Amino acid sequence: MLSPIPTPSGPLQISPGPASQSPIRLSLVLPTFNESDNIPAIVQILTQLLEAHLGEAYELIVVDDDSPDLTWKVALGLTAQYPHLKVVHRVGEKGLSTAVIRGWQAAQGEILGVIDADLQHPPEVLVELLQAMERGADLAVASRHVEGGGVSEWSLLRRFLSRGAQMLGLLILPEVISRLSDPMSGYFMVKRSAIAGKTLSPVGYKILIEVAARGTVPWLAEVGYVFRERQAGESKVTWKQYIEYLQHLLRLRLSRSSRFIRFCLVGLSGVLVDMLFLYLLSDPTMLGWRLTRSKIIASELAIVNNFLWNDLWTFGDLAQRQPGKRQRLKRFIKFNLICLAGLILNVLLLNVFYNLLGFNRYVANLLAILLVTVWNFWFNLKLSWRVTEVSPHQ
Ligand code: GDD
Ligand code: MN
Repeated sequence: MLSPIPTPSGPLQISPGPASQSPIRLSLVLPTFNESDNIPAIVQILTQLLEAHLGEAYELIVVDDDSPDLTWKVALGLTAQYPHLKVVHRVGEKGLSTAVIRGWQAAQGEILGVIDADLQHPPEVLVELLQAMERGADLAVASRHVEGGGVSEWSLLRRFLSRGAQMLGLLILPEVISRLSDPMSGYFMVKRSAIAGKTLSPVGYKILIEVAARGTVPWLAEVGYVFRERQAGESKVTWKQYIEYLQHLLRLRLSRSSRFIRFCLVGLSGVLVDMLFLYLLSDPTMLGWRLTRSKIIASELAIVNNFLWNDLWTFGDLAQRQPGKRQRLKRFIKFNLICLAGLILNVLLLNVFYNLLGFNRYVANLLAILLVTVWNFWFNLKLSWRVTEVSPHQ
């Protein structure tokens, strides 16, 4: 019997191009978990359909998560009859979204697609998705909520939940979700070049949101489809998926915020650390130390807190380019010095605004804090996390 192709590992990243000039246009991934009853039928239908439209220029990639019903084995048994079919038998890692990405990593095509393996996604719609891609779309999505779309026999509750999730998405990530009439869709195609080199980190079920948010997608096309009833097997959707969806949206929201916003959020966390330790050290009911000594220690702990988060998150990409403990220590020392200078500046500005210009005390303080935040951000970016660009041809 033929064997599965190796499971890609490492970071969830798609390479910019297949090693050799590939003749494959479309790589269609079918994620499966316990779909042994559906897989022979869907492979047959997809093969017929794609052959008619693409000739030899396509591949089908089943990514099975070691299903107890041995879906991967059933799929493997089909490969002799269907030479365009490949099977990834994944053990260890689990989950729909990462299965799709692993499948794309094993793919050769310039267009990467995904379709459910349970025949709930009508295969004919593939042709329309392909046409949209041929016209130049970067991402073509099959949607239940545009003309020609719908759901067949969903309960009122499931419709409600699906719409509710969409509304929530609009609140948290409007610039992405508002472009998608059906952000939950798991049936779409994307240009390899639109997501190549981007690190994808989906949470849970919904890979489309990840692709639309992290990819470069100037042209997004939608095609209507009716979500069919399942013929065999059962759905894996549970409450957990709704929680993961929310988590995913929030993570995207955070990672899309600009460096300065991240810097400010870290700064706020530092205020909390400072407050907490000032309380623990100086409050009479706690250690009851002298205020000045307590404040110095609390501030330094806040600085350490801020440094760690900034090094990991705000300037994480820059920090990665300056590896090693020594480099990190250097950044920490510079960060400390800049923050210290910032503190002195803070006091000076407060005095200028309050004593010299006669501002209200709290307005003066707020202004001073704002200016010092900008100062801290700018000098830390330019001095602490600065990367010296070295030309590779020296
Ligand atoms: N490899 C792998 N690993 N595949 C999985 C896993 C997993 O952990 N979980 C589910 N799958 C496969 C299923 O076998 C099926 O082929 C496909 O992913 C979709 O899973 P279903 O469990 O059938 O999902 P559904 O029909 O309830 O939900 C669908 O909801 C959307 C509409 O709201 C999703 O599948 C979307 O694709 C769909 O558009
Ligand atoms: Mn399904």
